[in-house]
Amino acid sequence: MGKEKRLITSALPYVNNIPHLGNIIGCVLSADVFARFSRSRGYDTLYVCGTDEYGTATEITALKEGTTPKAVCDKYYRIHADVYRWFGISFDIFGRTTNDKHVGITQDIFMKLYKNGYITEKVIDQFYDPDKGIALADRYIRGTCPYCGYENARGDQCEECGRLLSPDQLINPISVVSGKPPVKRKSKHLFLNLPALQKEVKDWIEKTHEKGFWSDNTYSIAKAWLKEGLRERCITRDLKWGVPVPLQGYEDKVFYVWFDAPIGYISITMSFTEDWESWWKDEQVKLYQFMGKDNVPFHTTVFPATLIGTGERWVLAFHINSTEYLTYEGGKFSKSENRGVFGTDAMTSGIPPDVWRYYLLVNRPETSDTDFSWDDFKEKTNKELIGNLGNLVNRVMTFAHRYFNGRVPTPAELNDEDKRFLDGQKELIDRITDSLEHVKLKQGLREIMEYCGRVNQYIQFTAPWRTVKEDPDRCATSVYILMNQVKDLGILIEPYLPFTAEKIFNMLNIDKQGWDDLGRFTLTEGHVIGKQEILFKPLDDRTVEDLKKRFGGKRTTVNDLDLVVGEIISVEKHPDADRLYVEKVNIGDRTITIVSGLVGYYTPEELSGKKVVIVKNLKPAKMRGIVSEGMLLAVVTGEGDKQEVEVLSCEDCAPGDVVRPEGEHVEGKKSKGIITYEQFKQVKLEVKDHVVYGDGRRLTVNGKPIKTEHEKGVVE
Ligand code: 2FM
Ligand code: ZN
Repeated sequence: MGKEKRLITSALPYVNNIPHLGNIIGCVLSADVFARFSRSRGYDTLYVCGTDEYGTATEITALKEGTTPKAVCDKYYRIHADVYRWFGISFDIFGRTTNDKHVGITQDIFMKLYKNGYITEKVIDQFYDPDKGIALADRYIRGTCPYCGYENARGDQCEECGRLLSPDQLINPISVVSGKPPVKRKSKHLFLNLPALQKEVKDWIEKTHEKGFWSDNTYSIAKAWLKEGLRERCITRDLKWGVPVPLQGYEDKVFYVWFDAPIGYISITMSFTEDWESWWKDEQVKLYQFMGKDNVPFHTTVFPATLIGTGERWVLAFHINSTEYLTYEGGKFSKSENRGVFGTDAMTSGIPPDVWRYYLLVNRPETSDTDFSWDDFKEKTNKELIGNLGNLVNRVMTFAHRYFNGRVPTPAELNDEDKRFLDGQKELIDRITDSLEHVKLKQGLREIMEYCGRVNQYIQFTAPWRTVKEDPDRCATSVYILMNQVKDLGILIEPYLPFTAEKIFNMLNIDKQGWDDLGRFTLTEGHVIGKQEILFKPLDDRTVEDLKKRFGGKRTTVNDLDLVVGEIISVEKHPDADRLYVEKVNIGDRTITIVSGLVGYYTPEELSGKKVVIVKNLKPAKMRGIVSEGMLLAVVTGEGDKQEVEVLSCEDCAPGDVVRPEGEHVEGKKSKGIITYEQFKQVKLEVKDHVVYGDGRRLTVNGKPIKTEHEKGVVE
């Protein structure tokens, strides 16, 4: 019997967007570690991925960019491929679902399901853009949320209050594509009869999840779906950009992208090798699938049901591995808001791929959502990656060059300490191997870092810089051991940090070694090593601050502002600044001091007694020697001499009345943290038609909007 065959897939990324760090760790990078490990252990490994190209999202991007779906796919396919190459993702093939085998195999699988009676037909109501002549998926319809009043809620979910919606519930719905109200049409569609396949899917899950050691989150999502009972799923769409449905009466329809995308794993393999059936139809093959948690239902129920329903013996997943989400500085990654690091950003960041790989893998969101933060990134890079690994390799290499003329020394007999140390390391290698075999990627990396830590202890303990003079034999023996340990570290770290491993092998002047070489003295005495190279450069504060600025932190929104009505009790000129007033303002529970630049716009008499809108949670700041504890909001119009300023006021309000964006839940309101002026500036405050808006939502007090005399302007 030959070596086990491992087929590895990572979820096929949607083609029409640039992957961010969360997408990268979510599938391709995780699968890459496992693929590299499997190759290193000598398994017959095939790692397949590619872009998911069909469907509404691509059509709409094409409409927006004024081009064709094909052009969108070509452009973004290249971006994906470049990003993953840069990150060192070792696909055997990175293909596309528009490959020329895809339509054939998708239709073939469909026809088998059809003939076996697993396809049903129904007439459904569907939203349609009358202007553009296209059917609209729920998320392409927007309108006012019936729950919170947010005016730009999506037809599937309100991003403001988080509630799930259907487009029917939206007030004043419009199509995102044309801006016109959508209309409803009746349309005939095909459904995959999942209830009829439920039992077989359930049996397969129960049989597989334990022996395939599915991660807990994967199994619990699958179980929850089964418990609810699988429902029939519509697998056709009124679109052009997709796989045609090979049935009469369906000439103008295509398959839903989630029907054809998983079949993409197969078609991409077909376009890679004629021998594809030896991967997809041989029951000896173990299929490992990696994905983000939102993809789990499709991989644990819909796709297996599709394959089972053909009545053929397809290879079904052995192991399914899913990650939770990676957040960015406490918020979401957002291309449109320029927040977070996307693949193309990483490529131009000046930080090498292995530094990103280390951080993403050591923080891999395995059991809960995990946050990317720059401070943590800096700390882990400097302390762990460099402090533990980089410096160790550097020390050993420097020593070998300086005292042994760049050669592996001749060891004397190993003493008990050496033996104990090496036994411990061997035992740890077994643990690492076991973790990786069970796809516990984060644990494996932690154990490798522990391995590294022990080598550091061994250096400290054997102190070759001392023995070099006192006991040359001892020195030679420990350096011999250390150099072989560095070699083992190269092997161990290769799945995680392939570029670093390559540098280590180069420095040692050896070809890449595999898992079988671990724990053996394959670097033998007299071997001449190569030139020394520094593995990583530390991240300094300046670099990190620059990167923070470039990629943005969490954006402050109007919800982060603590706004209240305050009554101005007294106004004085600032003793040391011509343009500033110092006001005492009663904000209900106390009186605060505010310094503001209203001189020239208002007299002290005009301001006194006014009830105005105050930002209460601004970080206190000294202004020419006087601490200002808040900020008075005003609408500003015009520029230079023509500039006019009007404070936001509310004369029939009481001090302490809360000003809130329309729809903000009153009960659920948490106390708001202190924000800096810079953060305050990120909130979009403006006046339109005499009404004040924060991030597009009207600001209200006691249920009424705040009005201004000026028609429009920015609020500062
Ligand atoms: O969530 C996504 O990015 C999908 N494009 C994943 C598809 S996985 C597979 F089944 F193709
Ligand atoms: Zn809402």
